[in-house]
Amino acid sequence: MSILEIIKYGSPILTKKAETIKYIDKDIEDLAQKMIQTMWAAPGIGLSAPQVNRSTSLITVDLSLGENKNDLFILINPELLNKEGEIIQEESCLSIPEIQEKVIRPFRVVIKGIDLRGKEKIIEAEEILARVFCHEIDHINGKLFIDHLSLLKKNLIKKKLKKMIEKREL
Ligand code: NI
Repeated sequence: MSILEIIKYGSPILTKKAETIKYIDKDIEDLAQKMIQTMWAAPGIGLSAPQVNRSTSLITVDLSLGENKNDLFILINPELLNKEGEIIQEESCLSIPEIQEKVIRPFRVVIKGIDLRGKEKIIEAEEILARVFCHEIDHINGKLFIDHLSLLKKNLIKKKLKKMIEKREL
C-alpha cells in the first residue's frame, strides 16, 4: 500500500490547469492505484492528481470509502458534459483542512471521461456524487471550492488559511 502526501492550500499546483493524459501507461495506472489508497486512507470521497503533486488530468471518486466496489470511479480527462438544477450543501477539501462552507452545485450532472482501459465513460450523477465529480473536475481546472464563495467570505477564509500557514498548522 502506498499513501501519497496530500498537497495543501498555498501550493501553486492547486491553482494550475492539469495536463490532458494522452496515453495510459504503467505510470498512470500506478498513480491511479496510489490515489485510491491515499483517498481511502485520508479518508476522503474524492481526490484529484494535482492534490498528490501531479499536474495531470486524473480523478478518483468513491462515496463508499472502499466498502463497495461499484462505487469506485477512476476517470482520466474528466469533463462536465451537462448540468441541471442547483443544490446547496456544506463542502470541504482534503487540501484545505478545517474549512467547511456551503457551496451551490448542480443537482444532476453528466460527466465524460476515460477509464484505465482507455474506454470512454459517460456517467450520470446526482446530489453528493454530482457534487464530488464537480469538485474534482474543478481541481483539474485549477479551481478550489472556496473559489465558488463570495469575495468577502473567500477573503476571510484566505486570511485564516494564511495564519494557519504562518503557524505551520497547514
Ligand atoms: Ni478538494
